Amino acid sequence: MTRYSRITGTGSFLPPDLVSNADLVERLAKQGVETSDEWIAGRTGIRVRHFAEPDVCSSDLGLQAAQRALQAAGLSPQDIDLIIVATSTPDMVFPSTACILQNKLGANGCPAFDVQAVCSGFIYALTVADAMIKTGAASRALVIGAEVFSRLLDFKDRTTCVLFGDGAGAVVLEASDTPGILASDLHADGQHVGILCVPGHVSGGLVTGEPMLRMDGQAVFRLAVGVLEETARAVLAKAGKTAADIDWLIPHQANLRIMHGTAKRLKISMEKMIVTVDQHGNTSAASIPLALDFAVRSGKVQKGQTLMLEGVGGGFTWGSVLLTY
Ligand code: UT7
Repeated sequence: MTRYSRITGTGSFLPPDLVSNADLVERLAKQGVETSDEWIAGRTGIRVRHFAEPDVCSSDLGLQAAQRALQAAGLSPQDIDLIIVATSTPDMVFPSTACILQNKLGANGCPAFDVQAVCSGFIYALTVADAMIKTGAASRALVIGAEVFSRLLDFKDRTTCVLFGDGAGAVVLEASDTPGILASDLHADGQHVGILCVPGHVSGGLVTGEPMLRMDGQAVFRLAVGVLEETARAVLAKAGKTAADIDWLIPHQANLRIMHGTAKRLKISMEKMIVTVDQHGNTSAASIPLALDFAVRSGKVQKGQTLMLEGVGGGFTWGSVLLTY
């Protein structure tokens, strides 16, 4: 019998500090940085984002999301035999955020590791978990996207600091006789490292370089629209489906204009796209599982529907997963 993987629970968590565009305009004005709600909402669709308290780490946000996903799946931490955390804002250089989260969750013993593919991280992590379940290496995985991106923001750079937020989303992925994940498609092109990066590292006890998010927004925008269409078409072809089969498109939540552009190119109606970027900002690896959980809990996504998840981000990385929920 063919072994598949299937999402059996979703969860998410947003830190309580809600920062509206108006709040951000006021904060930035104190530093002599000018922006406006009109610019932010008009260019990106973002209206509010959440920022974590200074002592809260990605593992803390991920833990809450994981516990909610486990509850939704009717499982306890001890049932889990694989933990993958997608993050670009790990708690420490090492050990992995997955190991830290595993201990907080009380699921000690199972393999746990991080995946680093920036905003495509959750798509990468879900694909790895699916492959491990299909080979029998795991049966019940927790796949988590968790970020405290506010820590990487340069609040003197208005072209980036208005775009991002903190949060976490998680799914429980279980072995199943029925699909589940239908197909996935992953890519990276390292020649574009410089257009979206945090060019710093730790050396000799010091942070060297420039550990702040730097982005050539227009270059990222142009690449994103093209590759999101390509990967969507590729994953549909792998699964023998067409865009007409998609009930819900759940793209990485970075910019409403990119999301609309992708849906239009694929001829998918805007009503079939899940949008949370207005409420969360860009939460990088957390954005897709956050959007999925909101769609599930609001009753939009129903069992048996076909979902396309797709992400794009630093690296440059991109990819998609097509699944029956
Ligand atoms: O998660 C990874 C994926 N990341 C993304 O998908 C981000 C992709 N890129 C984008 O979403 C867009 O490129 C941005 C939202 C970052 C920028 O939008 P844009 O339409 O490409 O604006 P722009 O960079 O062309 O800037 C237009 C103008 C500039 O002024 P001038 O030179 O025309 O006078 C900027 O200085 O807007 C100005 N500007 C701002 N003005 C007010 C840039 N940031 C701001 C700001 N407030 N926060």
